[in-house]
Amino acid sequence: MSDIELPQQGIAWDQLEQELLDAGRGDVDWRGGRVPMFIHYAGEDALQVAKKAYAMYFSENGLGPRAFGSLARFEREVVAMGLSLLHGGPGARGAMTTGGTESIFLAVKCARDRARAQGRTGPLSIVLPLSAHPAFDKAAHFMELQVARVPLGQGFLADPAAMEAAVTPQTILLVGSAPAFPHGVVDPIAELAAVAQRRGLWMHVDACVGGYFIPFARQLGARVPDFDFAVPGVTSISADLHKYGYTAKGASTLFFAHEEDFARMGWHFDGWPRGQYFTHSLVGTRAGGAIAAAWAVLRFLGRDGYLRITQRVLATRARLQQGAAALGLPTLGDPQLSILAYGSPERDMAAVGQGMTDRGWTMGYVRAPDGLHHMLNLTHEPVAELYLAHLAEVLRDPATRRTGPGGQGVQAHY
Ligand SMILES: Cc1ncc(COP(=O)(O)O)c(C=O)c1O
Repeated sequence: MSDIELPQQGIAWDQLEQELLDAGRGDVDWRGGRVPMFIHYAGEDALQVAKKAYAMYFSENGLGPRAFGSLARFEREVVAMGLSLLHGGPGARGAMTTGGTESIFLAVKCARDRARAQGRTGPLSIVLPLSAHPAFDKAAHFMELQVARVPLGQGFLADPAAMEAAVTPQTILLVGSAPAFPHGVVDPIAELAAVAQRRGLWMHVDACVGGYFIPFARQLGARVPDFDFAVPGVTSISADLHKYGYTAKGASTLFFAHEEDFARMGWHFDGWPRGQYFTHSLVGTRAGGAIAAAWAVLRFLGRDGYLRITQRVLATRARLQQGAAALGLPTLGDPQLSILAYGSPERDMAAVGQGMTDRGWTMGYVRAPDGLHHMLNLTHEPVAELYLAHLAEVLRDPATRRTGPGGQGVQAHY
């Protein structure tokens, strides 16, 4: 039992502000580029826009579009901007959600509902590449769907032939990631969508990381094949605003190629005294601030702003990639975007990670094969050389050499 209780008397803001500041002192220094994920920073100006817009709509509630026409309009316009980046056709639709997990959950739910509406009975299953985000398993668990996770092919990419072989009469959904979180590589979406079309399956593209990054990266020369609604057979796409849209946390988008599939996102209830209840989200109340901030940041940065930031993130990835490879830690796969994993079987990557941790870096890891993992943003740009210098120092320690098959392997927790 905790000895913390609600204070009898309220505490003045001055004291609370100090306590809040003090509480954060032990947290990782994200502004100093010391954390390899969780944060997406696009500069102080974009952050201030997000905070101000959030504060302006702090009390408003996205559950009430009748009351808050402003939020309904912001959401419509955010969705339209997203669809214009992702080649949505005239029938394409979408909505905002509170994050990638909710977007994925709802995509899986819509696929499930469509299958049931088509008369599919009994157990249903979804087929994922091994690299897909756990949100799919979480959704499947909640909805009592079975999951087949399929081993990756060359370059840590989804293997369309193996995925097709995993399809059974129960399968309703195929997933590809753009990019997948572990190695930052974009699955062969066109090939996967072709399988989905052949088998009559729902094809979801998880572009939670890449939805607001790849369009700009491609413009800057990143070698990423078509991954969005330009690909025939793609049914839905999740794209997080609170990642590379650089807006306040609590904002993602879920898009559908066709209006009738989008309609499955909506949920209507009228069986209680308070009357009609309708949402197209999993949650009820939605932070108005998150919706307003997304609208404001997208328009504050514009295409030019996103291009400028993307270019710097790509350059940081290339520098870390080249620097780590020069130290004998080659990149795992061929990432073209903002995520990088690297490692060597000649090194005990857990020991390398520990050495970096000892020097003040919060480390991310991948497993099988073991490696270090980075999802980059502008906070990493000014410390890339320091990071590599520390890495070089750590690698000089003979304890990081792997002499046999032993070692614990990395603990790849969040
Ligand atoms: C590829 C991918 N999909 C989905 C998610 C889940 O997003 P969220 O944490 O916003 O729920 C993440 C989070 O990192 C991700 O990397």
